[in-house]
Amino acid sequence: MIEDDYMKKVQCWCGSKLPYRDCHGKIEYKLKKLKESGEKIPNKRLIKNAEQINGIREAGKINSLILDTVAENIKVGMSTQDIDDIVMKRTKELGAIPACLGYEGFPKSVCTSVNNQICHGIPSSDVILKDGDIVNVDCTTIYNGFVGDASRMFTFGNISENAAKLIRVTKEAVELAVSKLYPYCHLGDIGYYVGSYAHDNGFNVVREIGGHGCGLSMHEDPYVCHVGTLGSGIVLAPGMVFTIEPMINEGTARFFVDEKDGWQVYTADGKLSAQIEHMVLITEDGYEVLSK
Ligand code: MF3
Ligand code: CO
Ligand code: CO
Repeated sequence: MIEDDYMKKVQCWCGSKLPYRDCHGKIEYKLKKLKESGEKIPNKRLIKNAEQINGIREAGKINSLILDTVAENIKVGMSTQDIDDIVMKRTKELGAIPACLGYEGFPKSVCTSVNNQICHGIPSSDVILKDGDIVNVDCTTIYNGFVGDASRMFTFGNISENAAKLIRVTKEAVELAVSKLYPYCHLGDIGYYVGSYAHDNGFNVVREIGGHGCGLSMHEDPYVCHVGTLGSGIVLAPGMVFTIEPMINEGTARFFVDEKDGWQVYTADGKLSAQIEHMVLITEDGYEVLSK
């Protein structure tokens, strides 16, 4: 009887025009069972359909092409405004829209966070990239109405040994958490793998700013904390798209926000922070990175 309810031939509610049982039906039935066994489950609206996934995949690819262009052109002596210009030009060439520009009043097309800046760095012609700097470029792009979001680290000249370690550990922490994803794993698993890896390497993880559901708009539920406990939080169902984007600090995890602009976030102790962001999809049999 319950199976009938979930497997009936009516069209899926999501607009895919597929029979419910071939679309969200299977997943919702599994989630219902998990809920009955005491699990926390995601809102069904967070589970994308095939058409949306194709659109988000495309947006992710376009976003990566823009970051590739940044990677090819970024160099010492350039200002972070120059990075913004590169992003704007490439985004237009690709027929896309920079999602950051005007987002809740953000004044530029991309975030460029240098050294002790944790995130939301505002590109400026006054900020010149110099030897020894580490920079995060966080790009978010709207393409055909879908959103791609990813960020990479760039370094210049001779960076300190600890800076190199910080970036390596950040990258490895994200890769570790991604590699552990599977259908119906838990949100807290991500925080567990990222957090424990960073802590074991002597670094600290920002808790109050983190990843997020993504794809139809820039920031969707759930909030992805990069500190957590294995097996805690909602289960992650096939069709869910979210980012993993830890901000990992050399020193304290505490931070402050620039009062003048309300955006730029800095480490409280002035030490370095690194971030790497990937957008991932949970699939029926594993995961897919949408930011390659
Ligand atoms: N790309 C950022 C993220 O990963 C958000 C950008 S904030 C904006 O969530 F204001 F610049 F848009
Ligand atoms: Co981002
Ligand atoms: Co993001």
